[in-house]
Amino acid sequence: MKTIPVATILASETPAGRVMVAGWVRTRRDAKDFSFIEINDGTSVANLQIIAANALPDYAETVHSLTTGSSVTIEGDVRISEGKGQKFELIATSITPLGIAPPDYPLQKKRHTFEYLREIAHLRPRTNSIGAVMRLRSGLSFAVHSFFREQGFYYVHTPIITTSDCEGAGEMFHVTTLDINNPPRTEEGGIDYSNDFFGKEANLTVSGQLEGEIYALALGKIYTFGPTFRAENSNTPRHLAEFWMIEPEAAFYRLPEDMELAEAFVRYLAAFALEHHQADLSFFNERIDKEVLCRIEGIASSSFERITYTEAIDILKRNNENFTFKVDWGSDLQSEHERYLTETVFKKPVIVHDYPAEIKAFYMRRNDDERTVAAMDVLVPGIGELIGGSEREERHDVLLERIHTLGLDEKAYWWYLDLRKFGTTPHAGFGLGFERLLLLMTGMQNIRDVIPFPRYPGNAAF
Ligand code: 4AD
Ligand code: MG
Repeated sequence: MKTIPVATILASETPAGRVMVAGWVRTRRDAKDFSFIEINDGTSVANLQIIAANALPDYAETVHSLTTGSSVTIEGDVRISEGKGQKFELIATSITPLGIAPPDYPLQKKRHTFEYLREIAHLRPRTNSIGAVMRLRSGLSFAVHSFFREQGFYYVHTPIITTSDCEGAGEMFHVTTLDINNPPRTEEGGIDYSNDFFGKEANLTVSGQLEGEIYALALGKIYTFGPTFRAENSNTPRHLAEFWMIEPEAAFYRLPEDMELAEAFVRYLAAFALEHHQADLSFFNERIDKEVLCRIEGIASSSFERITYTEAIDILKRNNENFTFKVDWGSDLQSEHERYLTETVFKKPVIVHDYPAEIKAFYMRRNDDERTVAAMDVLVPGIGELIGGSEREERHDVLLERIHTLGLDEKAYWWYLDLRKFGTTPHAGFGLGFERLLLLMTGMQNIRDVIPFPRYPGNAAF
C-alpha cells in the first residue's frame, strides 16, 4: 500500500478511510488499554494522532518500543477524533517500527534554542520551526520560477566558478588546485596562477549579474537563481558566506521598470505564501513573530514607498542624534538607517533610488547630474536591504572612464565592454537575497536558520 502524506489526511473534508502513513514519532502516551502516538512525516506542522489499542499483535513489544524520534509505518482507519485538538485520528490496525531512536535522541519534547539546533543541523529539520521554514523555502523557490516564467523571463545558469569580481569588493573565495604549502611563484614573488587549474586566478562567484547581462542582451529578459559566495567577515544575523540570490536582468529596461519589476516580484511572492502556505505561516505567526502575517498581507496588498537617496538623507538627518552612525549626503546607509526608514517612517517597504556614485558598484549607470547613479535598494521592515539593483552603464566611453577611475583592470572586463561596443542598449536588473526574503516571510531572527546548512565565519559543518 502506498503511504499517504499526513498533510493530505488532515486537509481532507471527510475521513480518509483506510490508509498507510509513515513518519517519525514525536510523542507517545500510554493509557490503560491503548496508547496515543503522535507522528510527523514532514508534510505539515501538525502531527497525526494514532490510537494503538492493546489488542494489536505484539502491542507490548512494538508499541512500547516507540520512543520519540523512532520511525514507523502505520496502517489503519482514519476517523473523526473524539478528543480535542485534532480533527482526525488514525485507529491503527498494524504498526511496523523501522528504526528505534534510543533515549539519547537530541530532540526530546521540549523547546530547544536555535543556537543549539544549528549544532545538530542533521536533525533540526525534524523540528516544527525548521520544518515549516524549509517547506516555505521550497514553495517560494517554485514561486520564483513561476513569476519569471509568467513575465517572459528565461532562466539562465551563470557560472559558480568565475574569474571576474562583479561587485568589485574583493570579498571572494579562491578556487585553486595549487599546493598552498608550496605554490609556484612569479619572478616578483607573487603566486603564479598560470600554473593553476584554470590558468589564472579563479573564485567562487559573488553574483551572476555580469554574465546575466550577456544573456539579457541576447534573449531580452533573463533571471538567475543560484548560490553566491561572499568571504566578508560579517558575523551578523543578516549575512551568510553562501547564500542564494535571484537576479533578473532585462534589456531595454530603465530604473522605473526595474523598480516596478522588483515590487511586483516581492508582492507576488507574498501573495503566493499566503495562498499556498497558510498552515506554516500561521505557525510562524503564533510561535515566531506575532506580526508576520500582518506584514506579509500588507506587502501583498499595498504599494511600496519610493524616495530618492537625497530625500532619504534629509529624513535621516533629522534623526541623526539617535543613530550610532551619523549620516550626511554621501554616506552609505547602514542597517539602522534602512530599518528606521522602513519600520519607523513609512511602516512598509521603501525603494530608495539614485544613490551617490561613490558608494555604488562600477557598473551602475551615471545620472545626468554626474554625481548619482540610477541605482535602487528595496528596504523592508525587520531586515533592511532585501534587494539591490540598478540600470547598467551602457555607454562604452562612460563605463571605460569609470573602470579607469576605480583602478580596475580594463583587460579583465574586455567582454563586458564588448557588450557596449556591439549593439548596446539600456538595460537594468537587480538581486534579491533569497534568505533575507525568508526572514521577512517567517519572522525568523537569524539568517542561519532559514538555509538548510549555513556557512558563516568559523562554520561549514555538515
Ligand atoms: O546588493 P548586492 O551586493 O547586489 C549584487 O550582488 C548585484 N550584482 C545584484 C544585481 O543587480 N544583479 O546583493 C543583492 C542582495 C542584497 O540586497 C541582499 O539581499 C543579498 O543579496 N545579500 C546577502 N544575503 C545574505 N548574505 C550576504 N552576505 C549577502 N550579501 C548580499
Ligand atoms: Mg547592496
